[in-house]
Amino acid sequence: FLNYPLFPLSSQIVVGEFLGIGHFTNIAVTGFQEVPPTSDENVTVMETTFNSVPVRIYMPKRKSETLRRGIFYIHGGGWCFGSAAVFHYDVLSRRTADTLDAVVVSTNYRLAPKYHFPTQFEDVYDALRWFMQQDILATYGVDPQRVAVSGDSAGGNLAAAVTQQLIYAKSKLKAQVLIYPALQALDMDLPSYQENSHFPILPRSSMVWFWSEYFTTDRAVEKAMLLNQHIPRESSHLLKFVNWSSLLPERFKKGHVYKSPTHGSSELVKNYPAMLDVRASPLLADNSTLSRLPLTYIITCQYDVLRDDGVMYVTRLRNAGVQVAHDHVEDGFHGAVSFLQMKISHRMTNQYLSWLRENL
Ligand SMILES: *[C@@H]1O[C@H](CO)[C@@H](O)[C@H](O)[C@H]1NC(C)=O
Ligand SMILES: *[C@@H]1O[C@H](CO)[C@@H](O)[C@H](O)[C@H]1NC(C)=O
Ligand SMILES: *[C@@H]1O[C@H](CO)[C@@H](O)[C@H](O)[C@H]1NC(C)=O
Repeated sequence: FLNYPLFPLSSQIVVGEFLGIGHFTNIAVTGFQEVPPTSDENVTVMETTFNSVPVRIYMPKRKSETLRRGIFYIHGGGWCFGSAAVFHYDVLSRRTADTLDAVVVSTNYRLAPKYHFPTQFEDVYDALRWFMQQDILATYGVDPQRVAVSGDSAGGNLAAAVTQQLIYAKSKLKAQVLIYPALQALDMDLPSYQENSHFPILPRSSMVWFWSEYFTTDRAVEKAMLLNQHIPRESSHLLKFVNWSSLLPERFKKGHVYKSPTHGSSELVKNYPAMLDVRASPLLADNSTLSRLPLTYIITCQYDVLRDDGVMYVTRLRNAGVQVAHDHVEDGFHGAVSFLQMKISHRMTNQYLSWLRENL
C-alpha cells in the first residue's frame, strides 16, 4: 500500500487508521517511495554534494543562449521524512526544469528523530550558500539575478528560514516561494489548528508531533505543545509576532476567541531554546528583518492546520513593505500538490509554475 499513486485518498486513510500507526501512516502512504536520478529526453538529472549536503540537480537538455533561472527546492515531510528522490518531488522538479527552462537544485537534509534542529536548517543553508557562489552558479549556467528558494510544508519552513538568514550574506535571492509552510511553533491553537484538528493527512496531533520531534525526542515537549502550554509567561513579548487576533483577516477569525498561550514552564524553554528560535519559527523575525526579504509567493490551503501560519506571514510581510503574492486555495488541503493523481495537484502545480514563469 506504499505505492500511493494507485491508491485513492480514502482507502489510504482507512488503511492508515486500520493499522493504527498514526503519524507514520498518514505520511508514508502519500507516495514517499524513492526513485533513482534518471535523465529523460528533456532533462538531465544528476546527484552531487553541495558543501557535503547531497543534492539532486535537474538541468534542461536543450541549448540555451542565455543564463537560466535557478530554483533551490526543499522537500517537506515534517523534518522527519522524505528526500529529493521521493517520486512526487522528482516529478515536480523535473517538470519545473523542463517548463521553465530552469536549473532546479533539490536538496536533501538530515532528518529527525536522528537529527534535531538546527541540523536540518544548517544542512539546507550550507547547500544554498554553496549554490549561490558566483562560480558555482556559472558552472550550472544560472543567472545570479534569477534565483528563487522554494519548498513545501516543512520545506516551506526551511525555505522561509534560510531566506531570512541569507539577507545577511552577499548573494541575493530574487524570490521565495512557500507552499503551505509551517512558520511558528508558539501557538498550537490558531483557528486553523482548531478547525482542522482531525483533518486527515495532517491532523493537529501529527503536526505537534513533527514540531516536537524537530526540537527533541523528549516527550515532555510534545505533551506541553499538545496542551498549548509550552510558552512561559516571560516569553510573552514574542506573542505579538504570532498573534492571530491581530494578524488574520476577519474571515479566518470567525467564531474564535483569542487566548494567549503563556502557561508553559521556564524550565522547558531553557532546555529547548529551539522552541523560541527564529530559524525554526520564521514568524518570530522582527519588522526590520522582514523588510529586507525578497519578492514572496505564498500558497495556503483552507483545510490545513498550517493555513494561519501562512496567512499571518502574508500580513506581516506586507506590513513590513515586502511585495507578496498570496494564493489561498479554498478547496485545498495540506500536501495537495503531492497527490499527483488528483486534479487539485495539477491546478496548484500550474499556479506555482505560472507564478515562477512571470516573476522569476
Ligand atoms: C519533452 O519535451 C517535449 C516538447 O515539449 C514534450 O512533448 C515531451 O513530452 C517531453 N518529454 C518528457 C519526458 O517530459
Ligand atoms: C493579540 O491581539 C489582540 C488584538 O487583536 C490584543 O487585544 C491582545 O492583547 C494581543 N495579545 C497578545 C498576547 O499580543
Ligand atoms: C510591524 O510594522 C507594522 C506596520 O508598520 C506595525 O503595525 C507593527 O506593530 C510592527 N510589528 C512589530 C512586532 O513591531
